[in-house]
Order: sequence, then structure tokens, then C-alpha cells
Amino acid sequence: MHDMTAANLRSGYGGESMAYMRYMIWGDKAEEDGFLNVARLFRAIAYAETTHAANHFRALRDEVGPFLVPSMAGFGLGTTSQNLEGAIEGETFEIDEMYPTYLETAKQQKERAARLSFHYALSAEKIHADMYTKAKQAVEGGSDLELGPVQVCDVCGYTAEGEIPDKCPICAAKRDKFRTFG
Ligand SMILES: [Fe+2]
Ligand SMILES: [Fe+2]
Repeated sequence: MHDMTAANLRSGYGGESMAYMRYMIWGDKAEEDGFLNVARLFRAIAYAETTHAANHFRALRDEVGPFLVPSMAGFGLGTTSQNLEGAIEGETFEIDEMYPTYLETAKQQKERAARLSFHYALSAEKIHADMYTKAKQAVEGGSDLELGPVQVCDVCGYTAEGEIPDKCPICAAKRDKFRTFG
């Protein structure tokens, strides 16, 4: 694999792995604050980030060894509104800067597995940013988010409120590939 794509996959793996932990911690904080649907949203999206981390790791299957991994990561435990702002900032960085750059490099380097993994992550993060933005608006208004069941695709991390789709709109996975956070 080309060095730059391998480095990007490792960085993405690091960033997604930490996003998972950050969202779980922020989910606990939202629950403590009484925002039970915001907590559920954090946990559903945390799960989606594990699919991205796992896809990046699998794309690195032949790149064996220890590496120091720099990755963009937010820190800090604030109020739920501040934590949602942190989540929106993190997702926005991934959408506007990180994944478009990684995806373009993977395309140029003809790294097919990495290209797919970055495409899945970029597509799902756009949805996450929107969902967190709605959650922040609700919390700032002093109420919990109105939220039906949240469905997460195991294959690509696609996340949607409502019923399980017949086919994942990002990766075409079937219904049995979805996990429900209800
Ligand atoms: Fe995300
Ligand atoms: Fe999917």
C-alpha cells in the first residue's frame, strides 16, 4: 500500500476509535443531565464510528507493525450543549477537510479498499453532523431531542432515525445488517 494512504488509514482509525470513546462519555453526561434521547444519539453514533475504525483497520490488513498515530481528536468534558458543539466540530472537520483529502489521495493512489472505507465514513459523518446540530438546538432550548429509533448500518456506519431501510443508501447492505438504538 502507498505510504500516504496507509498513514491516512491509521490516522482515521485513531480518530474514529477516540470518537467512539468521546461519544460514549458524552452520552453518559447527557444521561446524567436528563437528556435521554441525546444520550441514545451519542451511543448510536459512537457505534457508527466503530464501523469506520474497523473498516480502516481492515483496509490496512497487510500493513503490519507498531506505529505512532497522530489523529485529530477533541478533548474535554463540558455541559451537554458544549459536548454537542465539540461533536459538531469534530464531524465538520472530518467532512470538510479530513475525509475529502484522504479520499482524493486514495483515488489518486488507486487504493480501492481505502477509497471505499473513506467514502463510507465521509457519507455517514455528514448525517452525524446534522443529527448533532438538531440535538444541540433542542438542548439549548432546554428540552431533550425528539428522537425515534435510530438505525445504524454495521457495514458503513450509515445512521438514520426511523424504520430500518430496505437497503442501506450508502453501501446497499440489507436490513439484517442494521443495529437499532430504540
Ligand atoms: Fe461521525
Ligand atoms: Fe451501509
